[in-house]
Amino acid sequence: MSHDEVVIIAIAAGCAASVGVVGLLFAWVFRGASLRWLPAGVAVVAAAAMIAAVIGTARAMFISDHDYVVVLWVCLVAGIVAACFASLVGAVVVRSSRQLREGARRFGESGKYDADVTGPAEFTALNEELRETSRKLTEAREREQRLEESRRELVSWVSHDLRTPLAGLRAMTEALEDGMVDDPSRYHRQISAEVNRTVRMVDDLFELSQIHAGLLDPSPQTIALGDLVSESLAAAESVAAVKGVRLDGQVDPDVLVHVDPHAMSRVIGNLLMNAIRHTPSDGAVQIRGWSRPDAVELSVRDGCGGIPREDIDRVFDVAFRGGASARTPGAEPVASGSGAGLGLAIVRGLIEVHRGRVEVENVEDGCRFVVTIPTSDPVTQPSVG
Ligand SMILES: Nc1ncnc2c1ncn2[C@@H]1O[C@H](COP(=O)(O)OP(=O)(O)OP(=O)(O)O)[C@@H](O)[C@H]1O
Ligand SMILES: [Mg+2]
Repeated sequence: MSHDEVVIIAIAAGCAASVGVVGLLFAWVFRGASLRWLPAGVAVVAAAAMIAAVIGTARAMFISDHDYVVVLWVCLVAGIVAACFASLVGAVVVRSSRQLREGARRFGESGKYDADVTGPAEFTALNEELRETSRKLTEAREREQRLEESRRELVSWVSHDLRTPLAGLRAMTEALEDGMVDDPSRYHRQISAEVNRTVRMVDDLFELSQIHAGLLDPSPQTIALGDLVSESLAAAESVAAVKGVRLDGQVDPDVLVHVDPHAMSRVIGNLLMNAIRHTPSDGAVQIRGWSRPDAVELSVRDGCGGIPREDIDRVFDVAFRGGASARTPGAEPVASGSGAGLGLAIVRGLIEVHRGRVEVENVEDGCRFVVTIPTSDPVTQPSVG
């Protein structure tokens, strides 16, 4: 590098740096100004630095006056065009930031972020981040709401359903205390039975509130439907024998289900108990299992004489125990207080946790509950509404 070139570089660097310092000073003074002016400011400083460098080095470059003026004009025009272009870019940036600001303001008011921001990658990324935050917030809010609802429901269910058995227990214990009872052992047996029933009811209520709140955490396993059905039939055998009801189970061979075994046993158990309860002695309860290309199905059929048309849509409702009509003679009275009306609500909740569905239909002399569990979908929490 020749000596002249070194001198030219040094002069150009000095002139451009001086303009840069002035630019920095301006930037500091106007640091609170809109982002819109930043690219234009950078373009102006760049053009001014170039012009300053040309003026400073003109003598050392030994260019003619004519060329010197031409170079200055070229720099000036290029600078003006660059500044215009930069201000356009600034306008785009400002538009994006305005969209974001507007979205954030609405987010604060409604709790939901719905802005659609276009423009530089950082802004769209921030927009996506805000959308994600909004989605999580909504989910957390809904979960909180469901929890609150389930807490309220649990309190009202407990106070409603436990009042009667507790009043009975109090009457019996008071009678025992007063020594007014001829056969205390009968009272003891009755108290024990009532306590067991109450404990089961509290467990059911708790399970139901957990299902409704979406807090149930299923542990699905792939198991043979036949095994589940056999276990449930064995557990229900004694109750059926006392009632004089025949149990008949048939599951197609090699039918596998991907379910939480405890939850599924509970489903089958509840359906079987209902079927036995509502079938007159000498009647039969049939349970069948088979697989379809996309699902596994299980049906429980009883001899209840049919569920009244006005009740059939409500049997899965919490605390629904049926009306007093259209019952088969010999079947247990419907509103005898033997059930709390929770069994089918639990069945439906547990099946929904498995993304399945449960339906009921009247058939000849009875009704049939059909459970469908899809084989493709993974087990997730239900969408409780
Ligand atoms: N297999 C069935 N046949 C006829 N009616 C039924 C049958 N299953 C249920 N029902 C009707 O639906 C109502 C609700 O059933 P559910 O199992 O939810 O409650 P429950 O059996 O009364 O009480 P719980 O199951 O909590 O002990 C029953 O009271 C009954 O009227
Ligand atoms: Mg029941």
